[in-house]
Amino acid sequence: MERTNELPPAGPLDPSPRLLMGPGPVDVYPRVLHAMSTPMLGQFDPEFTAYMNEIMALYRQIFRTRNHWALLVNGTARAGIECCLTSIVSPGDVILVPIFGRFGHLLKEIGERVGADVRTIEVEWGQVFDPASVEAAIREHRPKLVACVQGDTSTTMAQPLDEIGKICRKLDVLLYVDATATICGMPLEVDDWCIDAVSVGLQKCMSGPPGTSPITFNERVVEVVNRRKKIEGGIRPTDAIDGDGPVIRSNYFDLAMLMDYWSEQRLNHHTESTSMLYAARECARVILEEGLKAGYARHALASQSLRAGLEAMGLELFGEPTNRMPNVTGVVIPEAISDGEKVRRAMLLDFGIEIGTSFGPLHGKIWRIGTMGYVCRKANILRCLASLEAVLRRHGLAVAPGAGVDAAYAVYDAA
Ligand SMILES: Cc1ncc(COP(=O)(O)O)c(C=O)c1O
Repeated sequence: MERTNELPPAGPLDPSPRLLMGPGPVDVYPRVLHAMSTPMLGQFDPEFTAYMNEIMALYRQIFRTRNHWALLVNGTARAGIECCLTSIVSPGDVILVPIFGRFGHLLKEIGERVGADVRTIEVEWGQVFDPASVEAAIREHRPKLVACVQGDTSTTMAQPLDEIGKICRKLDVLLYVDATATICGMPLEVDDWCIDAVSVGLQKCMSGPPGTSPITFNERVVEVVNRRKKIEGGIRPTDAIDGDGPVIRSNYFDLAMLMDYWSEQRLNHHTESTSMLYAARECARVILEEGLKAGYARHALASQSLRAGLEAMGLELFGEPTNRMPNVTGVVIPEAISDGEKVRRAMLLDFGIEIGTSFGPLHGKIWRIGTMGYVCRKANILRCLASLEAVLRRHGLAVAPGAGVDAAYAVYDAA
C-alpha cells in the first residue's frame, strides 16, 4: 500500500472528564475499563468459554435466581428486550403492557413489531400501578405474557413487582420485566417474585458501558422458545429436530440458538462481543464484592441525601413519593427558570456535570439527576448540589447559599 504523510482526518480521542449524573450511561468502574483493555480471545478458546460459564454463574447471583439460563445478548439494553419478546411472543399472541412511562411504550412498540396483539393499561407519568388493576386487566385480556418495566427512567418511578409476579403465576401468565434502570440499584428478586424473564443493561447501576444486555429466563420460557426452535443451515447437526411452533422471526435474537451457543454444545451463532463480555464479568465481580444489599443501601442513602439537598434549595421533586426510583431523581424545573436546557448546559460546560433532560409529556418540565453505580457516592452528591446552587443563582433563582449541601451532609451524618 502507498504510504502518505497525511494526518488522519480526526485527532486523537480525548474526551473531557465528566461526572455523569443523568439517567445513564454513567461513569464506568475503572476496573471495568481495565478489563476491557485485556487481550482478545477466540470465541471457542477454552479460556473464553470458561469466562462464558463464569458469566452465567455471576449473573445468576446478580439476578437472584436459580435459573440455569443467565447469558448476554450483544447490543444495548433494548437488544435484550427485543430478544426476550421476539423469542417468547409469536405473531397473534395477546400480550399486556402496563405503561407508566416511555419504556412501557417501547415494550408496546416492540410487541407490535413482533406481531403480537398488544393490550395496554396506562397511568399518568409520575404514578405506578396498583397490582389489583393489573390483575383486573389480565382477567379481562387473558394475555400469554405481561411485559412490564421495573424502573422507568423517563418518569423516575419504580413499579413494585412482587405482587404482580405472584398474580401472573396464579393466572398462568408469563411475566417479562425490563430492569435495565434498576438492576443493582434496588432489589430485584427474580425467583421470589415469580418473574419468568428479565433483561437489563450495564450502563446504569452496574456502571459498565452500554453494549451488552444480560438476561435470565426460566424453564417456562425455555419450553415456549424450544417449541419455536429452528437451527440455521450450515451449522445444523444432521439429527436436529425443529420445534412445531412458529419460527422466531429474528436470527440474531433467537433465544433457542443462543441457548445452544451458551450451552456445552457451543453451536456457532454470532461472534460474542469479547470486550463487552469482559466488562460484564468485571461489573458483576465489583458489585458482588460490595454485596447486593450494601449496594442497594448505598443507592438509597445517596438519593435520600440528594433529595434532602434539593428540597432545602426550595426545589420540588417529581412523582408520587412512595414509588420513586432510588437511583434517579426527577426535579421540577422552577417557573423562574425560563429554559431548563441552559441550566443543564452550564452544569456540563462550567462544572463538568451531566444531568438529564426529559421527554414526552415531561419535556421541559423536569431535570433528572442520576445517582447510579460508581457515581453514587457522597462526594458526587455534594459536588452536584454545590454546582447546581451556583448555576441556579446565576440564572436568577433565589437559593439560600449552602442550604442544599448542608441538608445533604446532614443525611450522611445521620446514617
Ligand atoms: C428502563 C429502560 N429500558 C430500556 C432502556 C434502553 O436502553 P438502551 O439505550 O441501552 O437500549 C433504557 C435506557 O435508558 C431504560 O432506562
